[in-house]
Amino acid sequence: MSALLQTRDLQLAFGAVVVADHINFELQEGERLAVIGQNGAGKTTFINICTGLIRPTAGQVFFEGREVTKLAPRAIALRGMVRSFQLPQLFTEHTVRDCVRIASAGKHGALGLWQPLAEAVPAAEVDHVLEMVGLLPRAGEISGALPEGQRKLLDIAMALILKPRLLILDEPTSGVSTDEKHGLMATIMRALDEQKVTAIFVEHDVDIVSTYATRVAAWIAGKVAADGKPADVLADPVIRANVIGE
Ligand SMILES: Nc1ncnc2c1ncn2[C@@H]1O[C@H](COP(=O)(O)OP(=O)(O)O)[C@@H](O)[C@H]1O
Ligand SMILES: [Mg+2]
Repeated sequence: MSALLQTRDLQLAFGAVVVADHINFELQEGERLAVIGQNGAGKTTFINICTGLIRPTAGQVFFEGREVTKLAPRAIALRGMVRSFQLPQLFTEHTVRDCVRIASAGKHGALGLWQPLAEAVPAAEVDHVLEMVGLLPRAGEISGALPEGQRKLLDIAMALILKPRLLILDEPTSGVSTDEKHGLMATIMRALDEQKVTAIFVEHDVDIVSTYATRVAAWIAGKVAADGKPADVLADPVIRANVIGE
């Protein structure tokens, strides 16, 4: 069986800074992969390449065994590889429910000027996704007024309505207090379990990584410096010295 996501020899540099240095990477269905690495290591760039926002200078990306390297982000999302951003990309003047409706209508090409949004998307599906992330009680509120943790959850609801097979989360707990991080991650993971979505998440908090990841990949200067079981990677002296910062 082919990997859900595979990269072959990805290469990219911004000027003299090498951000993808011959990345050969595979992800299997069902994994919960944490990506760790210091700021500037190339984690977000890797996500950008996989999801079509940036073209590598060399190398290929395969999703479910089919090449997606040169597809547009929207086409890649339609195939089932969806990402969230470190700063949630919401429609801040719209209600929580409408944000999910707009995200869904975009997928179905139903974002017409004259078609009411409520008709374009099955209401039960929208509300179910909101319920999964605990936002149903706030469905009628303006999304821009939500606290950061709930903005993150709304961003994830907007990704889940697309029915992804792989969801890539760029720092889902950044900007959220330490106390809130576990609750946020537990909610996200429950929703992913329910929808049987494979996931990659970028995360700095070692405690979160060891609680929620089944595998960890550590990025150093555009390279995957370690990749394996969380306990092994987090105990690796090179990773402890260069990534975790001890
Ligand atoms: N569009 C861009 N143009 C030039 N340099 C960039 C661009 N995007 C990222 N970089 C640089 O590439 C490096 C890797 O960035 P990034 O992938 O965002 O790292 P990370 O997500 O691991 O913090 C950084 O040095 C960053 O400044
Ligand atoms: Mg980043």
